[in-house]
Amino acid sequence: MNRPLVIGNWKMNLDYVEAVHLTQQIGVIVKNKPLEHVDLVVVPPFVDIRSVTSVVESERIAVDVGAQHASVHDAGAHTGEISVSMLQRLNVKWILVGHSERRAMYAMTDEVVAQTLRAVVRQGVHAVLCVGEELDVRRDDGHLDFVTAQLHAALEGLDEKWRPLVTIAYEPVWAIGTGLTATTEQVRDMTEHIRAVAASLSLGEARVLYGGSVNADNAASLISEGRVDGFLVGGASLKADSFLAIGQAAHDCYAGKR
Ligand code: 13P
Repeated sequence: MNRPLVIGNWKMNLDYVEAVHLTQQIGVIVKNKPLEHVDLVVVPPFVDIRSVTSVVESERIAVDVGAQHASVHDAGAHTGEISVSMLQRLNVKWILVGHSERRAMYAMTDEVVAQTLRAVVRQGVHAVLCVGEELDVRRDDGHLDFVTAQLHAALEGLDEKWRPLVTIAYEPVWAIGTGLTATTEQVRDMTEHIRAVAASLSLGEARVLYGGSVNADNAASLISEGRVDGFLVGGASLKADSFLAIGQAAHDCYAGKR
């Protein structure tokens, strides 16, 4: 098992005051009970990042800060966009690339996903490539082929030196925010498939996360039976105790306590 990675994607929730409050709560809990076997990342909305990194740095909280998206461009006339280098200046270490909500609602094509991933890793920032099928694809038994195509589109030809910066998150669209967590068998089959495809693209070392209605109750079995290396958590990351309970489950699995 790779060292677990647990990422909280706050999506478009929490203004900067609320974000600071949540970060401080996370800080109190991890100081009392350090999760030394887990890498923790919080991913606030852009406008919260500066405040969150200030708290993390001044209070020396053992979490990294990420961003939910970035532009493929580095600067210029791109109204409303934020570049990777701007995020890096804020000490952002991780950027989500191709989240299904961006693919579906903001017309992020496979091609743009591939360009964004390159823009991220070229700056030395970790890219979390999100893949996953819609419900109709799964019903038609096309999920493995669908995810294979997404992985190829994003990762084929990626320069060797950037490969260690790639993490893959499997997030079946039908499991996001629905309470319909994929079963551990579904997750294990897809995780093994993703590892095989990644290996064929010389990315066999990449961590493979699962996202979609993860909570404190299902996290341990998703790791031990689903064989994932961690999670991309949405709703349950908006509260310090539920987010860190997921982190604790990952920690205990890695430390062999479950
Ligand atoms: P939920 O955990 O709310 O289902 O969201 C998953 C997700 O999309 C994380 O990126």
